Amino acid sequence: MSQVSLSPNLKKAIEEFKLPETLGFGNVMAPVMATCTYENGLWGAVELKPYGPITMQPNAKVLHYAQEIFEGMKAYRVNGKGPYIFRPDENFLRFNKSAERMAMPHIPHQIFTQAVFDVTAYCADFVPRRSGESLYLRPFMFASEESLGIRPSEKFTFMVIASPSGSYFNDGQGLSVYIERDNCRAFPGGTGFAKTGGNYAAGLSAAIKTKNLGFVQTLWLDAVHKKYIEEMSGMNVFVVINNELFTSTLGDTVLDGITRKSLMSLATDMGYKVTETQIDIDYLISQIKNGTCTEAFACGTAAIITPINYFGDANGERYPLYFPEGKISMILREKLLAIQEGREVDNYHWIKTIEPKKI
Ligand code: COI
Repeated sequence: MSQVSLSPNLKKAIEEFKLPETLGFGNVMAPVMATCTYENGLWGAVELKPYGPITMQPNAKVLHYAQEIFEGMKAYRVNGKGPYIFRPDENFLRFNKSAERMAMPHIPHQIFTQAVFDVTAYCADFVPRRSGESLYLRPFMFASEESLGIRPSEKFTFMVIASPSGSYFNDGQGLSVYIERDNCRAFPGGTGFAKTGGNYAAGLSAAIKTKNLGFVQTLWLDAVHKKYIEEMSGMNVFVVINNELFTSTLGDTVLDGITRKSLMSLATDMGYKVTETQIDIDYLISQIKNGTCTEAFACGTAAIITPINYFGDANGERYPLYFPEGKISMILREKLLAIQEGREVDNYHWIKTIEPKKI
């Protein structure tokens, strides 16, 4: 990691920052951000700045053509040691896969990690300490070339911002999931597997419908048959049938979740059978109704593992799970969090320890 000299403004921002008691998710922003620009085929140097507004011309391509990608990562400090970042190289690899799909340049490993690690190191005191809380890290890249021509941009900005955060979902609210049978999030050959803002924007009108119908999350079905479960916009989904775990196959329409992948390894090593397969929504409903499917859960960086209370349809039908608060899902959640938070030996070598930096 680089030894950078901090500007007086940045030192002041760090000195004056106070971690509030109530966090929520993504609302409180840490005082340090990193930026790095790409021009003429070259990346510049990573700069650290106080968190604050950025300027761009109204004709910057990202504002019109949505050439943008991002990642979600977390740093933990629950036992006071660390900070620990979970599987940063997986985020780096996925970032560059998203970049390729969106006609953006690859970012070098050194720039990605320096920006993420430096922001974490200078914000080490602002990583919340309660279990389940973390410093949520958001690396992102956008097209900054000023032109309205529809061509891939030739100028890009890469940034990392961070947010001391609690749970993504309101605790105790329970996750109710609306089965979206009309709109689609992704289609074969599209951008569904990439972490690009447009995929999330495409889900927002369904999010309004989901909320108006009294649900918390939208479950997407495949665009071709409108039949097979895909994902839930910001997180992957698992179901438990006869004590075995099932999750959707990836293809190019589902995000390759790092929590999903980690859980598949953990669950297998804990003796559970885990299968990636096409899950027919009507088969799933029949298995919930006859009591064979006992639980289901959402998983993702932000969501961690959150049990699903019930699925439901627009006609008012509800399909409640036998274990709405989770059983296997809570065992897996505790195991995963214990590794992420440094409370348990990390036999998987998933944790990167960051040396805190003082100003
Ligand atoms: C994450 O889990 O990091 C995401 O990017 C999803 C988003 C809903 C916060």
